[in-house]
Amino acid sequence: MTARTPADSRRTEARTSPFPPILVTGGTGTLGRQVIARLTARGLRARALSRHPGDDTDLVEYCTGDLDTGAGVGAAVKGVLLVIHCAGARVGDDRKAATLVAAARPAGVQHLVNISVVGADRVPVKSSIDRAMFGYFASKLAAEAVIAGSGIPWTTLRATQFHELVLITARAMAKLPVVPVPAARFQPVAGAEVAERLVELALGEPAGLAPDIAGPRIYPMRDLVRSYVQARGLHRVLLPMRMPGAAARAVRAGANLAPESATGRETWEAFLAAQDLGGVRRQVTPSSAGAATG
Ligand SMILES: NC(=O)c1ccc[n+]([C@@H]2O[C@H](COP(=O)([O-])OP(=O)(O)OC[C@H]3O[C@@H](n4cnc5c(N)ncnc54)[C@H](OP(=O)(O)O)[C@@H]3O)[C@@H](O)[C@H]2O)c1
Repeated sequence: MTARTPADSRRTEARTSPFPPILVTGGTGTLGRQVIARLTARGLRARALSRHPGDDTDLVEYCTGDLDTGAGVGAAVKGVLLVIHCAGARVGDDRKAATLVAAARPAGVQHLVNISVVGADRVPVKSSIDRAMFGYFASKLAAEAVIAGSGIPWTTLRATQFHELVLITARAMAKLPVVPVPAARFQPVAGAEVAERLVELALGEPAGLAPDIAGPRIYPMRDLVRSYVQARGLHRVLLPMRMPGAAARAVRAGANLAPESATGRETWEAFLAAQDLGGVRRQVTPSSAGAATG
């Protein structure tokens, strides 16, 4: 017979715990998965909501629901006191928030924790060009308002772009031999660090708008793409591109950055070095990656 570990004991306690599970919407996504990992590491039970089913474990039950249509959302919030809202997409996060609130309020949810984006309140989305390229910021701001007006005690954390998203973007851009690169800067942060902060906030008192979380360095987009290309041993021509519109102008001016909230520790270079990128890997140094500018 193998000896019981402290983790085994925590799992047994949680299974038999009278405390309800913590609902993590988007529990199958980049952020939601890391939030759930941190909850279960503390011995807490989680319920993950997304449109696709997952395999239950001792501490995690997966439930299928759609925050765009409302299907399955009532069952997901049943008996839940704490919700960490990590579901999101490029469009429609205001609608998702409204659907969640409409189900969570009558269910008696006591704390709704929301993830938003740095710049939600500073990137103006007025014209059709703004909407086409930066509508995401407007939908995050509208989602924030829905949650703040929900009557449910709430906390919203704004984060800059995750390293994981920068990697996905750089990978997609580098498929082209000549890569148009927008004149924008980013301050990427580790999704793991955002997850840790969200869990801390969720386990505390509702805090309203929490201080932003942002990565330790600011990079021009071209340096992020160039460092990825170098790490893969690829050869690509990077072509500077200037995007039109007021939202793009605000982003060029740094509306998406939070230099005063650079509390993230993991740099983009460290994140990239830890990835299995395939292909020929080259050493990427901060100088060859075009290190911090801000
Ligand atoms: N990535 C970033 O750089 C970044 C930065 C700041 C803030 N955020 C915010 O952080 C949140 C999570 O981002 P992420 O990068 O983890 O996104 P992600 O990897 O794309 O995950 C999104 C999650 O939401 C679920 N989802 C999407 N539409 C849904 C719907 N209609 N109903 C129910 N579930 C739905 C997805 O599952 P299914 O597809 O299975 O439904 C998935 O679990 C989002 O709100 C995003 O705006 C992200």
